[in-house]
Amino acid sequence: MKGLILSGGKGTRLYPLTYTRAKQLIPVANKPVLVRVIEAIRSAGVEEIGIVVGETAPEIKEALGNGQAWDVKLTYIHQVSPDGLAHAVKISRDFLQDEPFVMFLGDNVIQGGIGELIRSFAASDWNSQIVLKEVDNPSAYGVAKLRPDGSIEQLIEKPKDPPSNLALVGIYMFDHHVFEAVEAIKPSKRGELEITDAIQWLVERGYRVYPHIHQGWWIDTGKPTDMLEANAHVLEEVVPSLDPSAQIDEQSQVDKRVTVQAGARIVRSVVRGPAIIGMNAVIEDAYIGPFTSIYHDVTVRDAQIERCIILEKSEVVGLGRGMILRDSLIGRHARVGRSTELPMGVKLNLGDYSNILI
Ligand code: G1P
Repeated sequence: MKGLILSGGKGTRLYPLTYTRAKQLIPVANKPVLVRVIEAIRSAGVEEIGIVVGETAPEIKEALGNGQAWDVKLTYIHQVSPDGLAHAVKISRDFLQDEPFVMFLGDNVIQGGIGELIRSFAASDWNSQIVLKEVDNPSAYGVAKLRPDGSIEQLIEKPKDPPSNLALVGIYMFDHHVFEAVEAIKPSKRGELEITDAIQWLVERGYRVYPHIHQGWWIDTGKPTDMLEANAHVLEEVVPSLDPSAQIDEQSQVDKRVTVQAGARIVRSVVRGPAIIGMNAVIEDAYIGPFTSIYHDVTVRDAQIERCIILEKSEVVGLGRGMILRDSLIGRHARVGRSTELPMGVKLNLGDYSNILI
């Protein structure tokens, strides 16, 4: 079995963060989503993984290298233009050869492992296995219509009038027959070679395609609200730990569901979990509420925050006790503070496509 991770795309719905950073590298509970995907595949015993990359290839390569850190061998496959998921499969043929593989979208976060699923596929004679999840807004996804016996009748990409509420999760397993499908299908209305159409092609020709309905949570981290939701879910799963080099003074209250990473300093503060405080972060005279991830080298001083993701080297300082920064996603090297100048007001210095609610 091999792995194939798709990590192209611009991540426009996460602007401005993704102007300067691949969306798959944004951390959830202080670990990039892409690293979570690698670990999920590795936990099923798959060591050879191809990563399809686009415009953001240099930073993805810089972050992941050859994969040694996760005990996998990574091969980078360049997709010159974002021509669809089935196109990504097509250009990965040299890497995949004739081995069965699991394909995982690099921005998907899913509860629990997928080890069991991958192993059962590897031991079966199925040609493909897809993962489905009941959702409230099926029109935003590929949708499956099942027969009464549970087999697949039809798959449609982003239907206006969905035949069911079963969305295709971004995890797929295939054998080599998928290459016949991706060669045969034509681009969709949005101009892409859709993986949904390739799977439909397999179904129509009598290949054995099995659905698995996922019961846990699943998040396709397209928008800031999705990132915050994924962060909350993952923080609940993290087994908390306290690095021995972290310092917490006696005046602070840090509850048991908080992970504190190496070199972090918590002074005269209250931290309620589930939460994570990154390496060398400084939390001083502050309140950090549940579902918050503070990344490495962040400073929070004289401020209250809750259900936020704050990325590296940013500062939230001097907001005082009268307000709480909540449900926010703050990028790297950003500064949120309070002005002492008159007249009182709000001063903003924002990147393109920023989104502020006051
Ligand atoms: C893609 C697939 C869609 C699937 C979704 C899952 O959509 O085309 O079938 O449901 O991923 O994340 P896209 O992210 O390209 O809009």
